[in-house]
Order: sequence, then structure tokens, then C-alpha cells
Amino acid sequence: ARIEKAGHKHFMAKEIAEQPTVIAEALSYYLSADGNGIVLPDPGLDFTAYDRIVMVACGTAFYACYTAKYWFEQVARIPVEIDVASEFRYREPPVAPNTLAIFVSQSGETADTLAALRYMAGKAATILSVVNVAESSIARESDLALPIRAGVEVGVASTKAFSCQLTVLALLALEAALQRGEMTADSHAVRLAELRSLPGLLTRALDLDEWLNAVSNDLAESRDVLFLGRGMMYPLALEGALKLKEISYIHAEGYASGELKHGPIALIDSHTPVIVFAPHDTLFDKTVSNMQEVMARGGRVLLVSDRKGLALASDGVWQTVTMPEVPDLFAPILYAIPAQLIAYHTAVAKGTDVDQPRNLAKSVTVE
Ligand code: G6P
Repeated sequence: ARIEKAGHKHFMAKEIAEQPTVIAEALSYYLSADGNGIVLPDPGLDFTAYDRIVMVACGTAFYACYTAKYWFEQVARIPVEIDVASEFRYREPPVAPNTLAIFVSQSGETADTLAALRYMAGKAATILSVVNVAESSIARESDLALPIRAGVEVGVASTKAFSCQLTVLALLALEAALQRGEMTADSHAVRLAELRSLPGLLTRALDLDEWLNAVSNDLAESRDVLFLGRGMMYPLALEGALKLKEISYIHAEGYASGELKHGPIALIDSHTPVIVFAPHDTLFDKTVSNMQEVMARGGRVLLVSDRKGLALASDGVWQTVTMPEVPDLFAPILYAIPAQLIAYHTAVAKGTDVDQPRNLAKSVTVE
């Protein structure tokens, strides 16, 4: 069937709006009928057989890996190495025994990711892939290929594939934690319930569309934009910056909040908006103190947080975005929505070709 924009101005807007639905679809694909267990396709995975995980991808899929590193390490206690495929394949990394290699790709055809997969297959690692296109080269050459069930993604800038990649990787981390005895059955059930609450939370975040549109009209005037986050919000800051530069052509960088003072703070002036992703979690106070360093130097801060966070920290902030409260572990999936909508509305305000930004291809099958 031909894919249509379904009343939206761009495929990207449609794909952003679809996220509650496709995440629910991905969850129901992997959850047992009662919702309390994870069922992987044959031959399944024995996470107790691995001492480490290597995750490799390009672009947005790489930032999904970066986020999942926090999950696998924090909840399943497995060390995770991540790299972009174009570097990984040429640095000839030694591969220890008992390594699980995970390749994440929307298209399943990205040349560098496929080459990295073949390198790892040659080192006798177990190859797991997380793909959107189930009949792709990367899926075919894997020991186990997990579909993300996002449906066809047309916009060059990836949105719903990112959140579905995160959803599947979150499920894998929970499964790994359970199998390795790092999580009790009870807390596993709680975490799964939290994941099942995400589609509803994403729907509420999508209600911020109009407000984010208003904020983005100001961003469209900027030459540079910085994105800050700490912990799992750091990879999301990187993804937010990538989205913005891909489609609005505004120079944007993502930084770990705590790294700011080691260089990038020199960039701060009243013309540089700084977008801070800071849910009210255990790292909130640290992120806020970095944000205050920005404001003390005249920086204009857009704080994306929840009611609790904003009650504590919105003094002197340029703009705020009030997100629903979300279980700490899965905040990156929810906060992807404002990251994407900010990029989208800024690009629309600038009048760029949102679905087919200049110089970019949806699937990069050459080196
Ligand atoms: C291209 C696309 C990006 C995408 C990257 C990886 O550069 O423009 O949106 O994240 O490739 O693609 P993949 O299909 O492997 O996820």
C-alpha cells in the first residue's frame, strides 16, 4: 500500500505522531499475553552466556545504542562498548570470548554497519540485530534479528524508528537483568508495567506540539544551539542536536552537562539557546547547577522538565516545557518527543525541505 501523510504536512510530523501507536505495537509484539513476560523469537538469547556487549550503529541508531548502554550497564550489570560503525570496522578491535554484538539499523542496509557486523561474525561473536526492515541484509546475516515494528519510515530524519529501537533495547536490558539475577521478578514486573505506560505518556507529550511550535519560532533565528543532558539524557542531547542540524541546518551540539565547563561553556552568549533535558530524577540537581552556570554567563535556557523539576528550577530560565512525569529509566523514550518536535518546528519555520533535507539519504549503502 502507498504510504500517505494522513493529513499531516510532512511525513516527519506523521511519524512523530505515530509513536504512541508503534511503541504499543512493539511492546505487544514482545510481551507475553498477560504482559508480564518478554518473549524473544527463536532461538532466543541466553544473557548469562555473555561477559560483555558491543553495540555498533550509525547516526540516530547509534544514539539508541548509547542510551541502551546505560540500561544494560545499570540494570543488567553487563559492560557495554559502543561505537559508530565507520570507526569500529577499521580500528580492528580485539574481541574477547563471550561477546554479544548488537547492531541497530532502521534500514538494515547501512554499509558501514553491515561491514562491522561481518567483522564481528568473523570473530565468532553472537550477532544480534535490531532492525526496522525485517527482510534486510543486516537481519539476514544475524544469529537473531529483532524487528522494531515501527512501520515504514519515510522522513529521512529518523523519529519513530528511534523510539521503537529504544523500546526494544529497553526490553532486552530488562530480560538480561532478569536472566542474570540482577533484578527480582517483582521489580521486573514493575519495569514492564512502566514500559506499558509509555504510549499514554507519549500521547500527553504530543499535546505539547503547539507550545513547542511557538518556542521553535524563536530558535529558528539562531545560528548555534546547544543541547545538554546528564546520564541517559546525554545521548538524547546528542540526538536532539543531530535532529536539529539535519533538518533545520542550524549548527547544534549535544554535550554532557558536566562536561560543559571543560570547553563548550566558552560558546555561551545571549544569542545561543541552550536546551536542557532534565527530568526530576537523581541527577536533577547536578544538571540544574550546570544550567545555572550557563545562565550566569547570559545563556538563554530552554528547560525541558516535569512539574516537580520546574517548580524547583525555572527561575531565570528563558522558556520551559512541562513534560508528564515518567519513570526514571525510560525518560529518554518520552523526552525524544520534544527533541523531535523542536527540530521539526524549527525546520518548518525556516522553510527547509523537512522530509528530504539537503545532502542526506535515508539509507546509506556506500561507505
Ligand atoms: C542515514 C540516515 C539517518 C540514520 C543513519 C543510519 O544517515 O539519514 O537518519 O540514522 O543513516 O541508518 P540505519 O538505517 O542504519 O538506521
